[in-house]
Amino acid sequence: MKIREITPFIGAEFTGVTYEDLTRPEVFQELVDRLHRHELVVVRELDITPEQQISLAARLGRPVPFVIQKYRHPEYPEIMISSNEVKNEKPLGVARVGNFWHQDSTFVADPAPYTMLHGVNVPQTSGHTLYASALDLYDRLPQEWKDKLAGRTGVHTVGKRLRIRPEHVGLSVAEFRALIDIEHPKVEHPLVPTDPFTGRPYLYGSREYMDSVPGFDHNENEEFFSLVDELLADEDHVYTHRWTPKDLVVWKTRTTFHQATAVEPGVSRTVHRVSIDAGE
Ligand SMILES: [Fe+2]
Repeated sequence: MKIREITPFIGAEFTGVTYEDLTRPEVFQELVDRLHRHELVVVRELDITPEQQISLAARLGRPVPFVIQKYRHPEYPEIMISSNEVKNEKPLGVARVGNFWHQDSTFVADPAPYTMLHGVNVPQTSGHTLYASALDLYDRLPQEWKDKLAGRTGVHTVGKRLRIRPEHVGLSVAEFRALIDIEHPKVEHPLVPTDPFTGRPYLYGSREYMDSVPGFDHNENEEFFSLVDELLADEDHVYTHRWTPKDLVVWKTRTTFHQATAVEPGVSRTVHRVSIDAGE
């Protein structure tokens, strides 16, 4: 078994680890410690079944079934299938998820703290996942912005990213917007929380899942979002995960920004995702 830090700002990678190794408490504890210290853990080429993925997830917390029933794994509701594959003319799972910088589910009041992906069928030439640390991003903010953000909150929404579904046909834009506010009420979170594991401040929120910072005018909001966009675009502070088959990737949702990249045309890709809530 080998463990290395992937970059100075995010990620630890385990290689040569089997499921049996991970059932040993001291090995799993090492993984948990690394996750808490480095925000993201990659276990390369871990050959596991869906049941084993769920049981690993259950040791971090409580695996929660995905909200949309039709994208749940037919036998394992805790697994959401993220896939562009079609079987018997039916999509196997959700295609095109998270292709913009975000922290997971910030638009709900209490987002699950961990996300775990298993690369069931992954191309190595595209469909990479980009990761950036929200702690590192906060550190890189100019001091005047740190001062400006201190003590503030952010208003989060899924509204910018919600897809139009067949049942919305015929609604006016105003009606559709009103419906979003009813079905997905906006939530407010502190903008600079402290990570309990590292004791470091981090930035919670970015353009696509945020409405605004209360107290900022339109220009200040736009400056804030642009600054965050700019910091996220700095490749020296981004880890690109190039998938190898069977990789297991786990991250702390609050302190990890990530983004999916496109899969080249004609190439299939299926990943099993488990969202993990805090324990009892
Ligand atoms: Fe995500």
